[in-house]
Amino acid sequence: MMPQRPRRNRKNAVIREMVQENHVSTSDLIYPLFLIEGKNKKNEVSSMPGIFRLSTDLLLKEIESSLQLGIRSFCLFPSLTDASKDQYATKGLNPKGLYPSAIRTIKKRFPEAVIMTDVAMDPYSSDGHDGLVKEGEILNDETLEILAEMALIQADAGADIIGPSDMMDGRVGFIRSALDDNNFTNVSIMSYTAKYASAFYGPFRDALDSAPKFGDKKTYQMNPANSREALIEAELDLNEGADFLMVKPALSYLDVIHLLNTNFTLPIAAYNVSGEYAMVKAAAAKGWIDGEKVRDEILMSIKRAGASVILTYFAKEFAKSRKHEL
Ligand code: PBG
Repeated sequence: MMPQRPRRNRKNAVIREMVQENHVSTSDLIYPLFLIEGKNKKNEVSSMPGIFRLSTDLLLKEIESSLQLGIRSFCLFPSLTDASKDQYATKGLNPKGLYPSAIRTIKKRFPEAVIMTDVAMDPYSSDGHDGLVKEGEILNDETLEILAEMALIQADAGADIIGPSDMMDGRVGFIRSALDDNNFTNVSIMSYTAKYASAFYGPFRDALDSAPKFGDKKTYQMNPANSREALIEAELDLNEGADFLMVKPALSYLDVIHLLNTNFTLPIAAYNVSGEYAMVKAAAAKGWIDGEKVRDEILMSIKRAGASVILTYFAKEFAKSRKHEL
């Protein structure tokens, strides 16, 4: 006697789909995009095949074709030349700079697109750090002022969601009150809540040429050995006014995604980062794995772990593969 035969619920595609517990859809995804200065400029990130740094005009085209595929949310990162960077991330604080101008142009052309921004100093910093550096130290409270100013400029340009990726203490509350004091109460914050000091960010730092000029990011990003600490970060972010809690990277941190999802009621986001994308692309190019199947399995695992939102460089190719469902 074997009253329970789990294989009965796997016996054909209809029943398998009927009992399927999780689903990934294009509307779960946020597509990260890299922005560069100039016109008609497009260059591929060598460690991220299929991902390009784009000038604003071409970025509009990329957004347009993504919208047609059902991708409605985008996260924008500026890639600056070394010559434009300085200690104070000055270029990030220019209301007429590359980044806010691009946000304005995008929102004007595609008001329906949700634009998430990046708040941190590293794209503009000659030190390659997310905070202000003084004598080799990353200053916390002095950085908050800069981050809030950046957030206000981005909100004013039309950003829908502000994404503080810097990991300074207190930044969510500081940015929230700056936004509220300036009538941006409707602008959301997706906090990089549990952002780990990870080697999986390598290709992204290639894309922005933003690797730290000295040391590492371990005094502000979390130790990969810790999960309980993520609960402290999440509680702070919740109390400081975050609308989403993000875990980053995603794959080596599925347990952390699960932990936050069980302990908090805010929506959980996960960042399927550059190195995770690069590994799949590299192995697929060698014919060692089936890249598309692995991609879908990865995105599903992130959903299953408890993330309802996924930032992923796979967004466009995933959406293409699902186009028939639109
Ligand atoms: C920095 C930032 C990083 C990423 C997003 N924002 C890298 C870092 O912390 O050095 C990584 C994203 C990715 O790897 O895809 N503020």
